[in-house]
Amino acid sequence: MADTTQAAVLPRTPRFVQLHHEDRAAVRDELIRGLLAPAAFTSPKYLYDALGSRLFDAITELPEYYPTRTEAAIFAAHAPAMAAQLPSGATLVDLGAGNGEKAARLFEALQPRRYVAVDISVDYLRHALAGRQRQFPALDMVGVGMDFSQSLALPAEAFRDGFSGSGDGAPRVLFYPGSSIGNFAPAEALAFLRQAHAACAQGGAGGGLLIGVDLVKPARILEPAYDDALGVTAAFNRNLLSHINRLTGADFRLADWRHVAFYNAAESRIEMHLEAREPLAVCWPGAASVQERRFAAGERIHTENSYKWQAADFDALLRAAGFRNTRVWTDAAGWFAVFWARS
Ligand code: AVI
Repeated sequence: MADTTQAAVLPRTPRFVQLHHEDRAAVRDELIRGLLAPAAFTSPKYLYDALGSRLFDAITELPEYYPTRTEAAIFAAHAPAMAAQLPSGATLVDLGAGNGEKAARLFEALQPRRYVAVDISVDYLRHALAGRQRQFPALDMVGVGMDFSQSLALPAEAFRDGFSGSGDGAPRVLFYPGSSIGNFAPAEALAFLRQAHAACAQGGAGGGLLIGVDLVKPARILEPAYDDALGVTAAFNRNLLSHINRLTGADFRLADWRHVAFYNAAESRIEMHLEAREPLAVCWPGAASVQERRFAAGERIHTENSYKWQAADFDALLRAAGFRNTRVWTDAAGWFAVFWARS
């Protein structure tokens, strides 16, 4: 088992695999299709340009945004119980790793043999993993740049020692915290969990998925979390328009758009939209001529869904995806849940 805290060994250097190469034409086509749809929409992944990622980090520190701190409290309170359930010496696969902070908090309890950090940008991971490697010099670290929202086909070389030989055979613990699963519609979430199950099953026995899930609660708690008093979530949502302008050449004026967030109880989801304050037209360069989309006053672009689950329903979803022996830990108020599901 790797001693992840012992510095008296030769420091390792993280390895990197880049699977995702941005196809700017495809991105532009996808965005324009959404803008021209009768009910305009965009994928929430476009909320995360460099500024959007920093705004999201700020959201996680807001008093109204309970998920991040509630999940952290669950991990802190139940670390020994989690460690007793999870395999030690596993390969810890961090999906949407960001700066790797959440996973690093598990290293001591789990003693993984390898840390595989997966995020859309390998450039971002290079920077983040360099810092983590200094903190945990003995731990083998691999950065994988891929967009796993469509396909979770993890590269085999991430699970080999030094990119050579056959697979290491270690159990795989897939780590998907932060309730990012809530940004998938239920059918997409099931498809994602099936792929996660298949990815765990490719490792040794005892692997599984450790996942954070936001639970259903009253709208008076949910809605301020997505429409905070400081206006950080509004800035995060409107910043999407700057990103779209850069990606498509469109001329969205941010001041023309109002942030709207509400709980749709029938669908069990927070919806975020941008609403036109007045009648307006948005233009972008097309192949032959300028294209435009007109919006009436009050018309909206649907920018994100954040589904909230009943713990029993999410447990059933994990089982439908093939997982067995699920365990769940929650906070005292029952606002958030962390599931461990064996493959
Ligand atoms: C990343 N994801 C889990 C966040 C959520 O709560 O759905 C994104 C977010 N959108 C607005 N605030 C936070």
